[in-house]
Amino acid sequence: MTNLEEGVSQKFQKGTNTIFWGESLHVLNTQIADASVDLIFADPPYNIGKTFGAFKDRWASDRDYAQWCYQWLDLCVKKLKPNGSMYVMSSTQCIPYLDIYLREKLTILSRIVWAYDSSGVQARSRYGSLYEPILFGVVNKKEYTFNAQEILVEAKTGATRKLIDYRKATPTQYNTQKVPGNVWNFPRVRYRMPEYEEHPSQKPEALLERIILASSDKGDVVLDPFSGTFTTSAVAQRLGRVSIGIERECDYVKIGLRRLGIQADFNGEALQKPTKSYQAQNPYQLSVFEEL
Ligand SMILES: C[S@@+](CC[C@H](N)C(=O)[O-])C[C@H]1O[C@@H](n2cnc3c(N)ncnc32)[C@H](O)[C@@H]1O
Repeated sequence: MTNLEEGVSQKFQKGTNTIFWGESLHVLNTQIADASVDLIFADPPYNIGKTFGAFKDRWASDRDYAQWCYQWLDLCVKKLKPNGSMYVMSSTQCIPYLDIYLREKLTILSRIVWAYDSSGVQARSRYGSLYEPILFGVVNKKEYTFNAQEILVEAKTGATRKLIDYRKATPTQYNTQKVPGNVWNFPRVRYRMPEYEEHPSQKPEALLERIILASSDKGDVVLDPFSGTFTTSAVAQRLGRVSIGIERECDYVKIGLRRLGIQADFNGEALQKPTKSYQAQNPYQLSVFEEL
C-alpha cells in the first residue's frame, strides 16, 4: 500500500520516536494531545511549485495558501505547552502572511534568515534568492526554554590577535564566543553529504541541531508536522528528545522509518539508503582504491 484513504493515518513507533503517515491537519486534530509539545518545527510546502511525490506544491493564490497555513498554525499553537516554542519556515514571498497571522497567537522573538551559497540555476533578470526565512515564536515570552550556552558560536572580531578590553579595572580578553545572531549560514544539503536523502527540500541537520539544542531540553517532545526526510526527528533522536513526525507521502515515510531505525522493511520491501552514483559498484574497483 502506498496511498492512504482520506481521513486515515498510520502510526509507527519505536522507543521515543513516532511517525504518523497521514495528512497533518488530520493527525494534529486526532492524534496529538493539546498542550503536549515542547517544540514544533514546521517546514511546510512553500507554494513555489515543487513536487513532493504525488503532491504539487502550488495553491491557486497566495491567499489560498495562507488560508491553508492558518489552519495548521492554529492547531500547532494549540498543541504547544504553556512554555513551548515554534519555528516556522516558508518562502520569502509567503512568510509575511504567516508572520502577521502568527504574531496574534505567539510572541515572535526572532525573524531568522537561513542564508546559503548559490547552487543550480542563477537568476539573470532579478536578484537570486539565497535565503529562507524562519519565524521563532513562543507561547509565553516570560517563560520559555532557550539554552544559549548550548549554541554558542565564535565571536569574530576581525582582528588577528586576541583583543583585550582595557576599560575594565583588570584588563580582560574579549569574549570569544557569542549567541548566534539571526542570520544563519549553513550549507544546503548536497548530494555528496552523508545526510543526503532523495527529497527536493531536505533541511540540513546543522540547522535543526541549533534549533533543538536552543529550544528544548533532553526528554522534551519535538514535533514536525511536515517531516519530509525526517531531519527534525533524526536530530531530536540523536539529542535525546522525544520525536513525533508527520508526513503524507509514502516514500518519505519510508525514509523516516529507516533513518530513525523504527523498521528495517515496509510491506516486505527492505528499507535501504540508495547507493550514490559515485560509490563503487564493483568490488574490484573498491579494493584498488583501498590500496591507494
Ligand atoms: C518542505 S518539505 C519538509 C522537508 C523536511 N524539513 C526535511 O528536512 O526533509 C514539506 C513536506 O511536507 C509534506 N506535506 C505536504 N503537505 C502535507 C500535508 N498536508 N500533511 C503532511 N505532510 C505534508 C511533503 O510531502 C513534504 O515532504
